Parts: sequence; C-alpha cells; structure tokens
Amino acid sequence: MPRVLSGIQPTGDVHLGNYLGAIRQWVEHQHHHDAYFCVVDLHALTVPRDPAHLRARTLETAQLLLAAGLDPSVCTLFVQSHRHEHAELAWVLQCVASIGELRRMTQFKDKAAREGEEAARVGLFTYPVLQAADILLYQADHVPVGDEQRQHLELCRDLAERFNHRYGEVFTVPEATVPAVGARIMDLQVPTMKMSKSSESPQGTISILDDPEVVTRKIKRAVTDTEAEVRYDPKDKPGVSNLLTILAAATGRSVEDAAAGYTQYGPLKADTAEAVVELLAPVRARYRELEVEKDAAAILAQGAAKAASVAAPTVTRAREAVGLLPRA
Ligand code: TYM
Repeated sequence: MPRVLSGIQPTGDVHLGNYLGAIRQWVEHQHHHDAYFCVVDLHALTVPRDPAHLRARTLETAQLLLAAGLDPSVCTLFVQSHRHEHAELAWVLQCVASIGELRRMTQFKDKAAREGEEAARVGLFTYPVLQAADILLYQADHVPVGDEQRQHLELCRDLAERFNHRYGEVFTVPEATVPAVGARIMDLQVPTMKMSKSSESPQGTISILDDPEVVTRKIKRAVTDTEAEVRYDPKDKPGVSNLLTILAAATGRSVEDAAAGYTQYGPLKADTAEAVVELLAPVRARYRELEVEKDAAAILAQGAAKAASVAAPTVTRAREAVGLLPRA
C-alpha cells in the first residue's frame, strides 16, 4: 500500500480551510494507504506560546481529528514530539538545506515581513526542514495538504533528492496531493487572505466546532462586492468566488456547477451556509462524544509506538549514510 503522511499545527481552532483542504482527504486516504497523521507540536513552538495552552491544544486537535473521522484502527495518529526521530532527522537535513533556499520560502518571508526578521525565531526559518523530516521519516509517497504547503513540499522533494544523490538512496521522494476544489479557502471578511488559525478575524474564520447559527451568521455576513453577479472569478470577485468554492467543496461539485442557477448573493449565501452546517454536523456531534470518552491520550500513545516502527529504521539508515557512528 502506498504511504501517506500529513500534519496539522495545534495552534488554534481547526477551521473549515483545514477541513476542506486537508483533513477530509486524510479521512478518505486512510482506507487506501498506510496512513500517518501527526499533530505537529514542535512546529507550534516557532512562535511564543503559553505552555499549558499548547498542551491543551495538542490534545484537543487530536480529538478533533478523531471526530472528523480518523480511525486509529486503520491509521496511525500521533504527536510529533512523541517521536524524537523528527528532531533528530531535522538536524541532519538542516545540514543538507541551504540558507538561500529557506529564504525563498514565502511563509517565512511573509511572517518575517510582518514581525521583523531580527526578532523571528530561528525555528521559524528552519520550520520547512522539520516538515521535510516529518515526511521523509515515514518514506511517504503522498502528502495530502492544502495549496499553501506546495512550496514546502517542493523543498522536501529537493532535500530528499539531494540527500539520496549525495549519500545513497535512503528517502522516498514524496508528492503533494492537493484537492481540486477547496485547497485554498479564503477568509470570509478579507477574501484576499487565506482562512487561518492565527487570523485576527474571528468573523472571517469558520471553526469546525462553531454552532450552526454562528456558521450561518458568518457566511451571511461574508464580504462580497457591489455587483450582483454570481460568477467564479477569484481575481475580480474574491468573496463570491470563495463562497462558490466552499459550496462546491462541501457538496462535491465543481465551482462551475455550484454557480449554475444563482443570480443573487442572498440565495448563494443561504445554500452555502446550509451545506457547511450539514458537512460539519457529524464532526461536532462526534467531538462531543469523544470529549466525554477522553481516550485520545491512549490513542496517541499507541500511535507513537506504531510510528516508531517506521521512523526508527529510517533514522538509523540516514545516520549510517552520513557517517554517524552506530549507537551501541
Ligand atoms: P497547518 O496546521 O497550517 O494546516 C493544516 C492543513 O490545512 C491546510 N490549510 C488549508 N487548506 C485550505 N484552505 C486554507 N485556508 C487552509 N489553511 C490551512 C494546510 O495546507 C495543511 O495541509 N506546516 C504545516 C503542518 C505540517 C505538515 C508536516 C504538513 C508539519 N509537518 C508534514 C504535511 C506534512 C502547517 O502549518 O499546516
């Protein structure tokens, strides 16, 4: 079976973009792949965080993934820092990556531009190398992600190829799997910006656990434009195009099909809201059940043990390849 790996940061409320861009694919993939999914808590450290909050968020994010449909009897769900191999391989790969290629990463450039490069954590700079380690450790063939992770995946492929060329074939060179519709969900209030966990726009972000009334209100208040024409045109009509994307992704259609028949924004918003509420209802319901069960910690412990069976041999091979003395 081909292998998949993907990850999510425990840095805020999991939102509709995460769900449509990534998580929904994971749930699908787990049945046809040897599947590994991790909550990437080490990545969350690249920005200062309250320790207790990070711990709580890590567990909560895992619970949400279970509620979304990840089934620990068919996939491996774990916390990144529970496998020390991630940090270990990241170091080796940092010695393969160049400063120039990391500087070209748009996520780093954007964050550094906003917050100033001087104060940015070194971890923010080397973040994509840790991400490459996450993927290469598991010899993943496919990496299901949203659109904005494409560049990080290209870097991961480059690092794998460079390593293999220099030290011998150790890593599988992975490919990104990006959904045809929903790979880039935008903020409802600022539709030129992607929907984001760290956004300061709560009205523009739909959390997976938002009440149906809240989802409906946010979608009804979504920013559109002053024309009254329903047409998919992300450049000139970002708000309307985002609603069409959400409607299409939620109902499993193309954006063109989703747009057919609408002449006004009101009905488009009402139907989009209904489709999203329906899409998220089972996740909310299962999350409530899981909250009572509180079994996520045990599932994560099992997941970490299963992850070791792939991660440990890969690290051993990488260590040997670069010339580190074998451990006694
Ligand atoms: P993160 O936590 O920001 O997002 C998790 C997944 O959700 C996707 N996503 C979106 N998709 C559509 N529209 C959006 N607005 C949107 N926002 C987020 C992301 O593309 C991602 O697939 N660096 C990664 C986490 C990571 C990882 C990995 C991913 C760490 N190691 C190894 C894959 C493989 C991140 O910050 O994702």
